[in-house]
Amino acid sequence: MILITGATGTIGRPLVDLLVGEGAKVRAVTRDPQLADLPAGVEVVAGDPSQPDTIAAFLEGVSSVFLHPRAVGEAAGGLLALAKERGVGRVVALSAINVDDDPAEQPSRFQGDRNKEAEDAAVASGVEWVSLRAASFAANTLNTWAPQVRAGDVVRGPYASFAEPLIHEKDLAEVAARALLSAELTGEKLRLTGPQSLSHQELVDIIGNVIGRPLRFQEVPAEAFKQGMIQRGLPQPFVDALVARYARGAGPAEAVTDEVRRILGRPARTYAEWVADHAAAFQS
Ligand SMILES: NC(=O)c1ccc[n+]([C@@H]2O[C@H](COP(=O)([O-])OP(=O)(O)OC[C@H]3O[C@@H](n4cnc5c(N)ncnc54)[C@H](OP(=O)(O)O)[C@@H]3O)[C@@H](O)[C@H]2O)c1
Repeated sequence: MILITGATGTIGRPLVDLLVGEGAKVRAVTRDPQLADLPAGVEVVAGDPSQPDTIAAFLEGVSSVFLHPRAVGEAAGGLLALAKERGVGRVVALSAINVDDDPAEQPSRFQGDRNKEAEDAAVASGVEWVSLRAASFAANTLNTWAPQVRAGDVVRGPYASFAEPLIHEKDLAEVAARALLSAELTGEKLRLTGPQSLSHQELVDIIGNVIGRPLRFQEVPAEAFKQGMIQRGLPQPFVDALVARYARGAGPAEAVTDEVRRILGRPARTYAEWVADHAAAFQS
């Protein structure tokens, strides 16, 4: 039995689908099973990984745990202590490629994500571990750009030339499934990226090519972008850290790697493939 935290999210859903497809027994944790909408055959259980006592009973009979930093919050160590007591043999932690950077330079920390703590807890857990140090998700562009593309042909944003190697959530999920189902990646901190570093401008051009409508990226001043995000309810420290990251450019830790190919035996999916998989979200 494999226990998945964060099962209803961006990575959790494709991961659950893959595991079910592989014939694995899956126990999915969610705070609200009524809304989970997971595939038939998955054991859906109600619990909150950030309060490990709520899932302690569900760790019985589990061989591997997928540890999701957003879902587990500050409680990664506590959850994994319970897991070890109950005989869990392996943990696969989702983390981030910039996890060793100065915490003040990691925007996700200002949204409460505890990627470093999840990885550290996995390493210290006393069970076999793997850390998935993921690059930025291609899926982020659903929130940032899909509404603008549906509304017109101009995408407004800051720092047209900021470039990074976005990863397809299905690639990350496939590596996670491999790490959960076999021992071959044990003890590795895997730096997982897409196949190519692409700028905001280039990404928007690719969306246009895939959906068959020319699009233009129009750079807006950083201050105007910040104010827009804050007005939409995003916390100012997060917005400040995000814009500072764009201004600095992606760091050396965020360089393209060949890890997806090494692990899965085929190239990482391109951003064009990701857009094709999500084309409906960009079409009105
Ligand atoms: N986005 C990126 O570019 C990127 C890149 C690298 C690493 N990461 C890291 O990956 C993680 C995000 O992954 P994701 O996009 O798969 O997450 P997600 O879809 O936002 O959340 C996954 C699931 O976690 C549960 N959850 C969310 N917020 C919670 C909270 N405050 N307390 C308890 N449970 C909560 C929800 O499940 P239920 O409602 O069903 O309980 C949700 O479906 C973060 O740690 C992020 O820093 C992100």
